Order: sequence, then C-alpha cells, then structure tokens
Amino acid sequence: MKIFIDSADIEEIRYAYSGGVIDGVTTNPSLIKKAVERLKTNNDKINMSAYIKQLLIVAKGTPVSLEVTASDFKGMVEQGKKIYKAFNPATRNVVIKIPVNPSLKKGDGKEYDGIKAIKNLTASNIPVNATLIFTPEQALMAAKAGARFVSPFAGRIDDDIRSKRKSKFSKTDYFPMEGITDKKGVTNDNGIVSGIDLVAEIVEIFREQNIKSEVLAASIRNPRQAREAAIVGAHIATLPFDVIKELLDHRKTMEGMIKFTKDIVPEYAKLLE
Ligand code: G3P
Repeated sequence: MKIFIDSADIEEIRYAYSGGVIDGVTTNPSLIKKAVERLKTNNDKINMSAYIKQLLIVAKGTPVSLEVTASDFKGMVEQGKKIYKAFNPATRNVVIKIPVNPSLKKGDGKEYDGIKAIKNLTASNIPVNATLIFTPEQALMAAKAGARFVSPFAGRIDDDIRSKRKSKFSKTDYFPMEGITDKKGVTNDNGIVSGIDLVAEIVEIFREQNIKSEVLAASIRNPRQAREAAIVGAHIATLPFDVIKELLDHRKTMEGMIKFTKDIVPEYAKLLE
C-alpha cells in the first residue's frame, strides 16, 4: 500500500518525505486554510502560487492532489485546467481533485457535474482524484468516468455511523472495521458498517470488475485504521502528519531504546567510533 501525506503544510511534508517512504500528497481547501493560518501566525507573507510550486518541488516524483473550489461542471473544468496548466509543467506531478458530486442543495441539478468534470479532465489527459466518496456506487461512477484515484472518506463515515448512537466520541478514536452492534443489529449506512468496510467494498468491486482506478483511503485518523486499510487492499492511504509519525510509535520500542542506550559499554562504543 502506498502512503500519502494528507497535508498542505510544507514543513510537515518535507519532514514526512525525509524518510523516503512517502508516495504522494493530498490537499483540500480545509488543509490549505490550516497551512495559511499557520503562515499568518508566523507573520509570513503569503504568495500562494509560490507556496504551491514549492510544495510540488518537495513532493517531486510523486502525485500531489490539488482541489478545485468551484461547484459546477464548467467552473470545475476551468479551474482544473487552470491549476494544471499553471503548476504541472515544472514538476509534472499535479492531480486535480474533483468532488464526485458537487451539489450544494438536493435537487439543484448538479449531481452529475462531478462525473462530467472527471470525464472531461481525464479526456484532456489530466489525472483526477475523485473526492468526497461515501458510497461504493459513487466510487464506481467516478471510476467509470476515468478517475485515476477515488477517495473514500473512511473516518467521516465512522463519525456518521457512531453519531447515530448517543455515546460521545473523539475524531481520532478507533472505530471497529466490523462496525458496532446493538439489539437492532449492526449500525450501518445503507449496508456500510464502517469507513474501512466502505474501502473494502470499493476494493472488492474494482477487483471484481477489473477497474484500474486506485482506491485512496482518505480521512484516516489513527494507525490501526491505516493498518486495516492495508489489510482490505487499499492501494493508497492518505494520512495526516501525526498519524504518519504514530505509525512508528510504540512505548516498548522506546523503552527498549532507553535500556540499550544505558547498556552501552565503553569497549563496544569505542569499536563504533
Ligand atoms: O483526505 C480527506 C481528509 O482531509 C478529511 O479528513 O479527518 O477531516 O475527515 P477528516
């Protein structure tokens, strides 16, 4: 499974890439907002275009998803082409992120606009990451339109399912991939019992149907969920910086290190000088 970093913070991205095992970057308007707010608190002058170019250089050789902000077919295609033209020639790693369904109001007639935009950009050889996927059906439609990546939002499905229960939870809490059961059975969203279950169903459909789009598990909030994304066969998981660091964390590893460090005898230390 490839691991992407879900961030627009260049310092985080640079640090994550320094280990040599990160395979790409995903951003979205909320992550850009967070990065800009951080720059503002440092009183840094913001030149968004230079910032994005820099980010693309840090991730050179790996795909970076940049999202459109429009919510209609024409606007999304125009923005997608504009972003691609402005940023892709230098580093050749831009992927345009398009919401699978950009409707802002039920019945506004825009439910097909995402699919049409994916199809249009793909036809112009612009790679697309179809985002805000919450059902296997949406993933199938995005793949049919030619998306290179489809991004199911695992953590947000977990939030939605557990919000049907009264108990409190925090965003990063582990949610079991097999879902949660009460007297009425497994709490589910049209048959989907967890975010990882959503990822698993999409992987299975793509395998069964011989679909080439890659399943990019997004909205992953803890290492165990990342592990389960790998178990169910996600091609990629995009992880926040903190989760990437947590992948390497265990108290016994640190305890072992402290003990080994204490036990170094001068004779052995000298040998390694
Ligand atoms: O990759 C999608 C991600 O940024 C959304 O994550 O944790 O806000 O649901 P989250």
